[in-house]
Amino acid sequence: MAIQLVTTAAGLRAESARLLRQKGGTSQGLVPTMGALHAGHAQLARTAVAQNDVVVVSIFVNPLQFGEAVDLERYPRTLEADLALLEAEGVDLVFAPGVEEVYPGGEPMVRITAGPLAEKWEGASRPGHFDGALTVVAKLLHVGTPGAAARSQLPDYRAYFGQKDAQQLALVQRMVADLNFPVEIVPVPIVRSADGLALSSRNRFLSTEEHEAALVLSRALLLIEDRANAHEPLDLESARALVDSQPLVQLDYFEVVDPHTLEPLAENCKDTPFRGEGLALIAAKVGPVRLIDNVPLNS
Ligand code: PAF
Repeated sequence: MAIQLVTTAAGLRAESARLLRQKGGTSQGLVPTMGALHAGHAQLARTAVAQNDVVVVSIFVNPLQFGEAVDLERYPRTLEADLALLEAEGVDLVFAPGVEEVYPGGEPMVRITAGPLAEKWEGASRPGHFDGALTVVAKLLHVGTPGAAARSQLPDYRAYFGQKDAQQLALVQRMVADLNFPVEIVPVPIVRSADGLALSSRNRFLSTEEHEAALVLSRALLLIEDRANAHEPLDLESARALVDSQPLVQLDYFEVVDPHTLEPLAENCKDTPFRGEGLALIAAKVGPVRLIDNVPLNS
């Protein structure tokens, strides 16, 4: 079936209800995106299609989560290519609203406050970013909620988020738990290019030389993962030194944290073998481009 494009919340509700009825479906998946889709998003869509009868992908470049107006303007808009990628993955519906549809009265007066989990790591260098991201995610989760279209019981409702944005994922999970959103959040693993670089819509801004330099991020993470798997001390300092040895890369942070609270697991990383569950987080500027990456640890 050809993919359909809707631009209003009313259109999304009507079309998803019609599709659920038509398919006799009992589940709906939502994949929130800002477009400029790549193989990482394709993996989100593929996972959603495998687990749900009806799949909606939203494409909305959310002004609330951008600090600088210039970043918002520069964000790539590639709707035609995005639609082709999603159609190939078997997505049913794309919801691509304009700013007026999402924020009809201008910027919302009432917003989600992301709280202390948003103050560190990415939040430290992007004040207000996670409040803006959670506010739009809350709205998208509401408008993407399936109605009781097909059966007497409510359809299952799942939403898909990439593990690459680990802090965003932790915050969305917290919001859904703390505020009782009736949706299951499904984390989807990072997709990497053959050379190890985590896929991101920002990679297109890297020169060939910067792309080569950026590979030190995944190499350093791999080092930490190997040490965790070998039950060795993680020795973060030597992994940080590896990143610092690359002149085009300016390290912001490289830490091992608890995956839920995002608090550093410092004592686990020095001289004693790593035990338990962790998440190695890294962020760096490569030339003009800020990149993030992470790897889950389980030892
Ligand atoms: O991860 C993103 O692309 C965005 O932060 C999201 C979740 C679509 C909200 O705008």
